[in-house]
Amino acid sequence: MDDLRNKYIDLIAGASDEGALEDLRVQAVGKKGEISLKMRELGKMTPEERQTAGPALNALKDEINAALAAKKAGLADAALNERLKGEWLDVTLPTRAMRQGTIHPISQVTEEITAIFADMGFAVAEGPQIDTDWYNFDALNIPGHHPARAEMDTFYMHRAEGDDRPPHVLRTHTSPVQIRYMEKHGAPCRIIAPGRVYRADYDQTHTPMFNQVEGLAIDKDISMANLKWVLEEFFSAFFEIDGIKTRFRASHFPFTEPSAEVDIQCSWVDGQLKIGEGDGWLEVLGSGMVHPKVLAAAGVDPNEWQGFAFGMGIDRIAMLKYGIPDLRAFFDSDLRWLRHYGFASLDVPTLHGGLSR
Ligand code: DAH
Repeated sequence: MDDLRNKYIDLIAGASDEGALEDLRVQAVGKKGEISLKMRELGKMTPEERQTAGPALNALKDEINAALAAKKAGLADAALNERLKGEWLDVTLPTRAMRQGTIHPISQVTEEITAIFADMGFAVAEGPQIDTDWYNFDALNIPGHHPARAEMDTFYMHRAEGDDRPPHVLRTHTSPVQIRYMEKHGAPCRIIAPGRVYRADYDQTHTPMFNQVEGLAIDKDISMANLKWVLEEFFSAFFEIDGIKTRFRASHFPFTEPSAEVDIQCSWVDGQLKIGEGDGWLEVLGSGMVHPKVLAAAGVDPNEWQGFAFGMGIDRIAMLKYGIPDLRAFFDSDLRWLRHYGFASLDVPTLHGGLSR
């Protein structure tokens, strides 16, 4: 029995792969294996012989099985190590020179806007791009007959005959996010809502889809003064020029009272636009104090709360900041344009690291 044991222990130790190991298993403890046959001979033994041979054979079988299992695990480990060695990759090596994608200026500018407003305590909110006409118009104090509905060149969603769900539109502005946010979170609140908006319009400065950012700050005592400060902080940070002045011009929006259109200071020198200097003005956004009816529509008590809102075209301020002449090129997906105006993919804009390096 010792010979048998030594023979198989040596053979198992020397097995080079799982196939050889399986052959050895069959040869030793398989149905017709050497050890199994020996166990069958137990029946021919005297009871005394059997008493010693039986347990010894069982122990041998267990030992062989254990050796087989250990070797099998060892072979699997070795195979894995071999594979890992083959697949080893030094992630610290520089990448191969390849055409890299770039971040679209709209994404970049949205990140910049978000970073600046986050620093002033504004959270980011989102709403659906397909919305009901109630959120897009009625709740914003634009009733059915209001001329603003026609002015906005709204895309209406097709409705099957007999469909009695409320009419849906492609949102014409980000203002409906004001309603959705206040409805859900109440007051006080301080948010911006960047996103896509849609109007049936197309020329050098208009595309049927473009991007806006909405701002909303509601509390007990928020005033136009807060609005002016926030916007001047924003424009100075965004254009990376200290102390940019704004000019508020009285205007009218159904969802604000009073309302103002806001210009930033600029100059035209030799056909070149310079932001933040000179005595010219450039219109950049609409704003005002949120109309009490808008607060009420969103379930916020206008006797208790008040605040400002504004809406600004992201594409437009991106064009101003990065000197991009034609809005339509933003959405042409021309790779040459994207390489020229795009931003490095790992260069995330932050206030401390620089917005537009
Ligand atoms: N929603 C307006 C538009 O699309 C922009 C706007 C003006 C938004 C005044 C506002 C605001 O929040 O107060 O043209």
